[in-house]
Amino acid sequence: MRTVDLIQRKRDGEELAPEEIDFLVEGYTTGEIPDYQMSAFLMAVFFAGMTDREVSRLTECMLRSGETVDLSSVEGIKVDKHSTGGVGDKTSLIVAPLAASAGVVVPMMSGHALGHTGGTVDKLESIPGFRTNLTPDEVRAQLKEMGLCFISQTDRLAPADGKIYSLRDVTATVESIPLISSSIMSKKLAEGLDALVLDVKVGNGAFMKKQVDARRLAQMMVGIGRRMDKRVQALITDMSQPLGYAVGNALEVMEASQTLQNAGPTDLTKLSIELAARMIFLAKKTPTLDDARRLAEQKLVDGSGYKKFKQVVAAQGGNPQALDKFELLPNATGMREVTSPRGGYVTAIDAEDIGTASNMIGAGRDRKEDPIDPAVGIILEVKVGEKVDAGSVLCRLYYTREERVEDAAEMVEDAFRISAQKPEERELILEVVG
Ligand code: URA
Repeated sequence: MRTVDLIQRKRDGEELAPEEIDFLVEGYTTGEIPDYQMSAFLMAVFFAGMTDREVSRLTECMLRSGETVDLSSVEGIKVDKHSTGGVGDKTSLIVAPLAASAGVVVPMMSGHALGHTGGTVDKLESIPGFRTNLTPDEVRAQLKEMGLCFISQTDRLAPADGKIYSLRDVTATVESIPLISSSIMSKKLAEGLDALVLDVKVGNGAFMKKQVDARRLAQMMVGIGRRMDKRVQALITDMSQPLGYAVGNALEVMEASQTLQNAGPTDLTKLSIELAARMIFLAKKTPTLDDARRLAEQKLVDGSGYKKFKQVVAAQGGNPQALDKFELLPNATGMREVTSPRGGYVTAIDAEDIGTASNMIGAGRDRKEDPIDPAVGIILEVKVGEKVDAGSVLCRLYYTREERVEDAAEMVEDAFRISAQKPEERELILEVVG
């Protein structure tokens, strides 16, 4: 079998056989297939797509590329949540502790930043000392003790996804339904879970710009999960503006911490409660979904979710005090305001541009080996629907190096649409699949 022939057949729209997919994934994971050939294959998939059979095989093969965590010794239904990626989407940091404080066992495995979107692992690693590379034994011990752990793929867990994910990030092959589905589902199935709640984002800040594509992505992932006997439910949610106000790693940790103290933005709080409720319900902790919503809300209001988050941060080597004293988190050294050129209503905020601008000042990566600057990012001052005056602040860029700040500020300024007409309100939670 020759890699070049498989690339060519996929490029020409053919269906690959299971053993051909195994050959590609195994060859890339072991280093026999180089980055340039895998990049070409990913681009071929991007354009030609994959059949359900191919996607299921790709997922299984990525899942088998490393160890799977055996959680059979941990009592309880294990439920995780995963987002397809958005801007300012820090819900995992809120939802996981809320669900865990309601008694759900949450082995949360996440990824690094991808494209213009942020990554949960990068956010958590902005907490000084926080370690996400737990061993399977550490995962089991922590789940037994506190019902929650945050882990990243290591060389051992779904390593094929780890490698392919980084390559996609720098080869413009992220926005592909089969590649997103197999990436998310292989990681999730490697961590030994029973059920999964997916947050499939749609809008200008998501990889899926149209609801019909988001629905196809949701259906594909729910289908993969079902074929593997897992209960999977997907919410399709709006990403046509950043979620909450903060974009950037440490800045998002701060906002998540405020939200867990019941002082967060309305959209972020609402979505977090809904996602946590779905996890609680799938874990059979309440008889109805409404009861689960009430329980999630109670765990937010009485501070149990926040307490759980601090406990887990401490257990994984982080400094829990940093969640109260934000000066202990990495802090930017410079700030640049972006103001409104005219008065009117904010009718749109292009979330992709905000995410890209945040990456330009260091919050994300241009090349897969680039480091991330945890301190930098953007804080919005207004959201869609709010009224602004000429000259009022739309957002602030926080940076540590001046190089690309002016370009980023320009991009951010263009991301805001201001007009005389008040825009119609858009629903945050658009659909449920599964
Ligand atoms: N999240 C993932 O884990 N993988 C993707 O491809 C996109 C979002």
